[in-house]
Amino acid sequence: MEEQKRIIEEILKLKDLRRAVLLAHNYQRDEVQEIADFVGDSLELSRKAAGVDCDVIVFCGVNFMAESASILSPEKTVLLPEPDANCPMADMIRVEGERKVWKSFSGYEQQPAFVFPHGYTLRDIKAEHPGLPVVTYVNTTADVKAESDICCTSANVVKVIESLPGSEVICIPDRNLSAWAATKTDKKIISWDGFCHVHDRVTAEDARRARREHPDAVLMAHPECRLEVLELADHVTSTSGMLRHAGSSDAVEFVVGTEIGLMYRLRKENPGKVFHPLRKDMICPNMKKTRLTSVLTALREMKHAISVPEDVRVRAKKALDRMLEIK
Ligand code: 13P
Ligand code: SF4
Repeated sequence: MEEQKRIIEEILKLKDLRRAVLLAHNYQRDEVQEIADFVGDSLELSRKAAGVDCDVIVFCGVNFMAESASILSPEKTVLLPEPDANCPMADMIRVEGERKVWKSFSGYEQQPAFVFPHGYTLRDIKAEHPGLPVVTYVNTTADVKAESDICCTSANVVKVIESLPGSEVICIPDRNLSAWAATKTDKKIISWDGFCHVHDRVTAEDARRARREHPDAVLMAHPECRLEVLELADHVTSTSGMLRHAGSSDAVEFVVGTEIGLMYRLRKENPGKVFHPLRKDMICPNMKKTRLTSVLTALREMKHAISVPEDVRVRAKKALDRMLEIK
């Protein structure tokens, strides 16, 4: 405990010295959330990164999030304390080149009819659907964003799709987010077969079991879960959407269908309410890589700075800016 206190004191001193701001995703370790200047979902963190007044952003999250911060604020140094904190879903789609086949965590292979066959690249999909707008989930690499018309997060995907002209859109890379969005819009969605291994492992049976065990609880689920799970949920929303819903709802008991890091804020901000994880193994190992010691080293040694090639950055920024313009 003494050691943790000393690390925190040093982080705070270095933060002042470097004019640094600590941004943390809702899935980060409790102690990292505790020292962050701002904790939020992907959309809130993008907005914050674009507007915050500082010289350095320490991004406690995964690489696509830090990359987005750097794309939006190139004049700032963006540090990712753990350089290997990846999002496997972001690596499931490439602009071109190698084609890969992805297997879901649980062997779940049932896919909506509109999903593309395994192994396409973004250039393949665009060539087959010339002129269709590409909506890209922020959980992607900078070069994929650069080839897209507009980005989205789980908080605004439907609004983003609805903002586009025409009756069809390409939506990459999360098949579950696409399948859910397809139930909320009349537009035809051409999707991808990517998925989040943390959310895609949840089954309808998990949701039914949670209902049996907690019959009075509100079931909240993240749209990265399979449609069969979302259909059984009371409320489908982003991580911060869950925080808002739990705070404003009269209900006192909730089942939480997302990564368990969110439980920290849910419990802290709602002391009178009870929260159960939908599955105890909904843990994103990459989100858990960042520790206080990683933050300290990042600030002390100014590593690991994100760098995006300027031509890619400028094109990726257009897609992110278009998203941020949507209220
Ligand atoms: P949110 O944007 O809802 O926070 O989700 C980010 C994410 O990585 C979900 O797995
Ligand atoms: Fe990626 Fe899933 Fe982890 Fe989110 S929870 S960062 S989508 S692997």
